[in-house]
Amino acid sequence: MRPISAPVPATRFRRMRRSAALRALAQETYLAVGDLIWPVFVRDGVDVVEPIASMPGVNRLSVDRVVKAAEEAAGLGIPAICLFPYTDPALKTEGCEEAWNPDNIANRAIRAIKAAVPEMAVMTDIALDPYNINGHDGYVRDGIILNDETIEALVKMALVQAECGADILGPSDMMDGRIGAIRQALESAGHRDVAILSYAAKYASAFYGPFRDAVGASGALKGDKKTYQMNPANGDEALRLVERDLREGADMVMVKPGMPYLDICRRVKDAFGAPTYAYQVSGEYAMIRGAALNGWVDGDKVMMESLMCFKRAGCDGILTYFAPDVARKLRAGWV
Ligand code: PBG
Repeated sequence: MRPISAPVPATRFRRMRRSAALRALAQETYLAVGDLIWPVFVRDGVDVVEPIASMPGVNRLSVDRVVKAAEEAAGLGIPAICLFPYTDPALKTEGCEEAWNPDNIANRAIRAIKAAVPEMAVMTDIALDPYNINGHDGYVRDGIILNDETIEALVKMALVQAECGADILGPSDMMDGRIGAIRQALESAGHRDVAILSYAAKYASAFYGPFRDAVGASGALKGDKKTYQMNPANGDEALRLVERDLREGADMVMVKPGMPYLDICRRVKDAFGAPTYAYQVSGEYAMIRGAALNGWVDGDKVMMESLMCFKRAGCDGILTYFAPDVARKLRAGWV
């Protein structure tokens, strides 16, 4: 595309911005409720709504409350919810056995949501960190994060989640080769229609800080995740990872974090045209919410602008903790 315009005054860009009507005609991108995936935190108990200090407005919910949240989300037209478990520290082990327990908190939540709101797409997280005594996404031996051994555990997790009724599996661990292994296992077990949204370009980011509080992994984590998550300085590598995961059978791919990585979103969409998602992560949420609560920015406007920018950058959808708030704004006619 080679945009052409005459010199001023024949072209005056302000003509098309003069009124709301003309601005609407010239608008290139739209945000819709169908673009939203809502990440929620699940914990044990009954009727529990537990605030997360570093994510004002976000709570850990017991399974009954998550079901209510899913019903509310469905009512708002949100197509998908993504579950993250807060696991009782007493259940964390070196072998991460709780990860594929069909009755773990995440799997109970999948079943409960699918029973109550079958039309809601349920997405899961596949990684060992919520169940790992050392907070890492993979098995650790002598300080090394083990790749292939971890994949065996991830495959077990994936099969149990699929069995529980998950619609979309989200491997967020960044081990090499896990998409192919999970896809093959799903096919062999007859779960042919379970989708994989690969966290393909996931960076070793400080923006995940509040999330690790939310799932109770911050205290446990020893060291950092730089040997498996990407270096924030790299862009070409993201394209190689996305291509690799698509070739292994990912249906959708993700860039994470979101806002500081919009260049990656655009490059991924342009290069492959696959369904592409961004995760507006906990630290991004906390910055916007925190500034809004202090009266430093207009929270609603910054929220809506930040999400529109993902669409402009080529994303087909966004995982965002703001999902219900955004859905309400869109239903009230925000454009
Ligand atoms: C862990 C996982 C993380 C997030 C999603 N899955 C944290 C991490 O990699 O340490 C981050 C989400 C967020 O910050 O909102 N597998």
